[in-house]
This record gives sequence, C-alpha cells and structure tokens, in this order.
Amino acid sequence: MATERTLSIIKPDATKRNLTGKINAKFEDAGLRIVAQKRIHLTPAQAGKFYEVHAERPFYGELCEFMASGPVVVQVLEGEGAIAKNREVMGATNPKDAAPGTVRADFAESVGENSVHGSDAPETAKEEIAYFFAGLELVG
Ligand code: CMP
Repeated sequence: MATERTLSIIKPDATKRNLTGKINAKFEDAGLRIVAQKRIHLTPAQAGKFYEVHAERPFYGELCEFMASGPVVVQVLEGEGAIAKNREVMGATNPKDAAPGTVRADFAESVGENSVHGSDAPETAKEEIAYFFAGLELVG
C-alpha cells in the first residue's frame, strides 16, 4: 500500500477536555506520523468554508458554530494507507456506532461533538491539507 497523507482535526470538544495527547497517542500507536501540526481558533466563516460540502445539510450552521467555539488542532498524518487508517482509528461518525477503542468510542460526546475529523478520500485529503498548510510546513 502506498504512503499517503491525510488531514486530521482535533475538534473543540476534545481540546477543551485536554485530550490532544491521548488522541494523538492512538494515531501514533497505529503507525501514523504527525508531519505538520498547529493549534488555531477558526472563525465561523473559516469553518464554513472548510465544511462547504455540507452547506445544504440541516446541521451545517450548528457544525460551523461548534468548530469555531474553541481551539482546534489541525495536523497532517502520514503513513501506509493513512486515509483509511486514520478513519479506522477515529471510528464511526456517531460515537454510538464507533468500535471499542476508537477515538470516538472513547472520547466523543455526540455525533456533532465527535472529537476528530479526518479526510475521506485522496482528493479531499489534498484539498483539506492545502486549506491549512503550505507545502513547506509539511516535514516528513
Ligand atoms: P466530520 O467527520 O468532521 O464531518 C462532518 C461533520 O458533520 C461530522 O464529522 C459531524 O461532526 C457532523 N455531523 C454529521 N452528522 C451530524 C448530525 N446529524 N448532527 C450534527 N452534526 C453532524
């Protein structure tokens, strides 16, 4: 399997509860390497642009408000099949459906406040990484 890069976000519900290290330990234990990372506080407009694909969904307003409600950690994870591996470690979107030991099973509070985001495909990974990072900031 090819080495890939994927965008990961640790969301405000998790930064608020001081869970950044515990979450990243799960990614690193699964063989993913953090090759770029920063802690930022998004505006609702910046969150809205990032989640533009969901603009027609009923939860879009709530999602943008939540993502701007506190700091997030945006990061790039690298590894063999990193996109799928990251999603496996995160667990299902709704924590009620997430497999035991996944980030969302252990930490997420609800389907909306679900602790982490991860890119879902190679093209979205490329776009999402470019939204937050310049090429020179990725240090593998
Ligand atoms: P994420 O992987 O970041 O991608 C889109 C986000 O929308 C998702 O995680 C959830 O946080 C959020 N989301 C999905 N479904 C719902 C829902 N029914 N209600 C509120 N938020 C949702």
